[in-house]
Amino acid sequence: MRTKVVIIGGGPSGLLLSRLLSLENIDNVVLEKQSREHVQGRIRAGVLENGTIEMLRLAGVSKRLDNEGFKHNGIELSFKNHGFRIDLKKLTDKHVTVYGQTEVTKDLYEIIEKENGNIINCAEDVLPQNVGEINSFVTFKKNGIENKIMCDFVAGCDGYHGISRKVIPENLINVFERIYPFGWLGILSETPPVKEELIYANHGNGFALASMRNNNLSRYYIQTSLDDRVEAWDDKRFWEELKRRLPIEASESIITGRSIEKSIAPLRSFVCEPMNWNNLFLVGDAAHIVPPTGAKGLNLAVSDVYYLFNGLKKYYLFNDDKDLKNYSTKALSRVWKAIRFSWWMTTTFHKFPEQTSFDQRIQDSELEYLENSIASQTVLAENYVGLPYEEF
Ligand code: APR
Ligand code: PHB
Repeated sequence: MRTKVVIIGGGPSGLLLSRLLSLENIDNVVLEKQSREHVQGRIRAGVLENGTIEMLRLAGVSKRLDNEGFKHNGIELSFKNHGFRIDLKKLTDKHVTVYGQTEVTKDLYEIIEKENGNIINCAEDVLPQNVGEINSFVTFKKNGIENKIMCDFVAGCDGYHGISRKVIPENLINVFERIYPFGWLGILSETPPVKEELIYANHGNGFALASMRNNNLSRYYIQTSLDDRVEAWDDKRFWEELKRRLPIEASESIITGRSIEKSIAPLRSFVCEPMNWNNLFLVGDAAHIVPPTGAKGLNLAVSDVYYLFNGLKKYYLFNDDKDLKNYSTKALSRVWKAIRFSWWMTTTFHKFPEQTSFDQRIQDSELEYLENSIASQTVLAENYVGLPYEEF
């Protein structure tokens, strides 16, 4: 078998890249380790930047998003149980859209299966080979049978635990990492969201976030310690702690109910430089991880796709490899800004184990300053709605 681009991983970045390449008649194959049901069952964040929406529109998957997504013109921040609003629209003339990443993945799968049919699910032992040379190929097993696909390029869209980054010789990459000393305990509940906009709360007991999926599906998170267990948090305990941390009006009006999903996730910042090794290009979580506090994970994966897609398009359509050669530099410039923003949101809103009363006062004063300074609000808003992509 031969194709132009083998895409390893059928998460949002692999699917979006595949779809965009197919629309330009650039042959590609997606090799995904898991089944389609498994990929579509994963619950992930759901705040989309305008740039992400535009890319999904270009891929022809914006219909359901336009109908079912919620436009948010602001977010609420809170400290000491006191909330205030950041007017994203007024400050940046942009908004964000709340639409679950799970839904984005479903929409992409549906259109690719219908029109291109080039996703191979349940592909085992996927291994990119010879990526440093001209005759690159990828091997994998499907139903016990060995397969080999020759290709020009490999896109490593296989997430943090994938194989793509691991095949790059260690002496050719630099890794930058911060592991945060806490996790997020998240629940989904079939209750109306406490507010029409998201609430990010700093509290002496730790961070809390009120988010949503739709009018009757809420997503709430509280910061927990790393050794905490889901079993230790029955619904009653979760709601009590959440209410303690949210702004007073929200705690008083929140409608609680049975949780339909509950899990704990660790928080980490991670960047691998460069984001390519010859013909192998890393995209999305394979190259970088952000803590969820700034809602940047998926959006960053999509901006990588933007840079790689445009580089590949120029290469195949105009025989020009300049942008492909600059992929890592261009993508990383935006990646680091999102890494910084997510780190800042995390540092400003969470309680660190070694935190002193001095540190808490610094956080309180940072948030009080934000509440009263348009300059400070603009910095936050610009980053939250998403920094612009570099034009081609
Ligand atoms: N072979 C083939 N597929 C693999 C392999 C492998 N060795 N390892 C992992 N995969 C698949 C996973 O099963 C998953 O479906 O690669 C996919 C990677 O998807 P994501 O982890 O969702 O990463 P990405 O597409 O870059 O999306 C980034 O999604 O994961 C969230 O928080 C993340 O929001 C961010 C965004
Ligand atoms: C979510 O809805 O799951 C969500 C929203 C915003 C974040 C993180 C997660 O910053």
